[in-house]
Amino acid sequence: MRRVIYPGSFDPVTNGHLDIIQRGCKLFDEIIIAVLVNPDKTPFFSVAERCEILTDVLKEIDRGECKLTVESFEGLLVQYAADRNAHAIVRGIRAISDYEYELQMALMNRRLEPNIETVFMMPAETYSYVSSRLVKEVFQLGARIDGLVPPLVEQRMRQKK
Ligand code: PNS
Repeated sequence: MRRVIYPGSFDPVTNGHLDIIQRGCKLFDEIIIAVLVNPDKTPFFSVAERCEILTDVLKEIDRGECKLTVESFEGLLVQYAADRNAHAIVRGIRAISDYEYELQMALMNRRLEPNIETVFMMPAETYSYVSSRLVKEVFQLGARIDGLVPPLVEQRMRQKK
């Protein structure tokens, strides 16, 4: 049973995140999509809203035999991963610029919990420039975001505006 954690802010979930989850479904038996509760950030969507949106959009994913679970977590990621008996943490890498920060986190996480591996996955090139931060920025400035996020996310963002 290969259970992995795919952690993130998911504020909001993008098509890049979904692409990683879809690819992960071919490799793992269970993916826990874990939304970080981060009191330092002022989010667009609350953690509860993000979990609800994720649960809804994941219904569209062709998951095969893979179980997909959405949860929120607080505190140390490796502690949460160990509590869930996860084998690995999955992170998406879009470009070399992501790599430095991700490598730093992966090595720190390995130091803290040597039994949990970090697996880097690449999304489709189409999404190599897509980030939640940029999606929010261009949306708030009035630009179109279709194709970058699932239609439900765009709809929920419009309701918030
Ligand atoms: O989507 P994000 O914001 O890039 O995700 C970052 C995340 C959630 C993976 C990272 O902030 C994290 O793991 N936070 C939990 C606290 C923690 O364990 N920090 C030490 C990381 S080495």
